[in-house]
Amino acid sequence: MNQDQLKQAVAQAAVDHIAPYLNQQSIIGVGTGSTANCFIDALANIKQTFDAAVASSEATAERLRSHGITVLELNAVPQMHFYVDGADESDAHLNLIKGGGGALTREKIVAAVAETFVCIADESKMVDVLGDFPLPVEVIPMARSYVALKLVGLGGEPVWRQNFITDNGNLILDVYGMSIVDPKGLEQQINQITGVVTNGLFAQRPADILLLGTAQGVKTLSR
Ligand code: 5RP
Repeated sequence: MNQDQLKQAVAQAAVDHIAPYLNQQSIIGVGTGSTANCFIDALANIKQTFDAAVASSEATAERLRSHGITVLELNAVPQMHFYVDGADESDAHLNLIKGGGGALTREKIVAAVAETFVCIADESKMVDVLGDFPLPVEVIPMARSYVALKLVGLGGEPVWRQNFITDNGNLILDVYGMSIVDPKGLEQQINQITGVVTNGLFAQRPADILLLGTAQGVKTLSR
């Protein structure tokens, strides 16, 4: 199977995983990216079995609506059983790097609200130690240089993502060269830098389940 087929397989596995729990009141949190897009397309096949979705980006909201799925504001949602999203890297503890698509802040917010975070990824995303993938950090525009200096102080090499503005009107610094042995600690440390909105480490709220697409089929990992 190629990478696209693996993404479709994990997307379908996520639909199969959540389907038994859905009812007419269910709200599903939906992530951003190519794997999440496969999930949206698969979810459309069962759109009569749940109420609505909450989107982690404008792009995801648009794709959901194009399938006739109702998209709600997060503030209007009392409870959310599942959040389903991809990742750029996962370790064995289901700590993640996310934000390759720049939607990390909204993704982190929706993941925080959901009872269960189901991560979907092909096996290329599984690593022993996080950090080969540059860590995205969302930054308030006027703080870009200040935050970049602080990130250098933490041993990283921040690179300003060119021609990119987040859905929240901010910038992204992609931080290279970090070998992240303490994901929870680093997540907290970076978030304490003034001007940082959030960073792409999902360790304080990791995934609960990882559906990993492999040549041998979809494997289910849980914490
Ligand atoms: C977007 C994300 C995505 O989940 C992550 O970049 C993975 O994307 P893809 O499924 O396209 O590989 O965090 O902000």
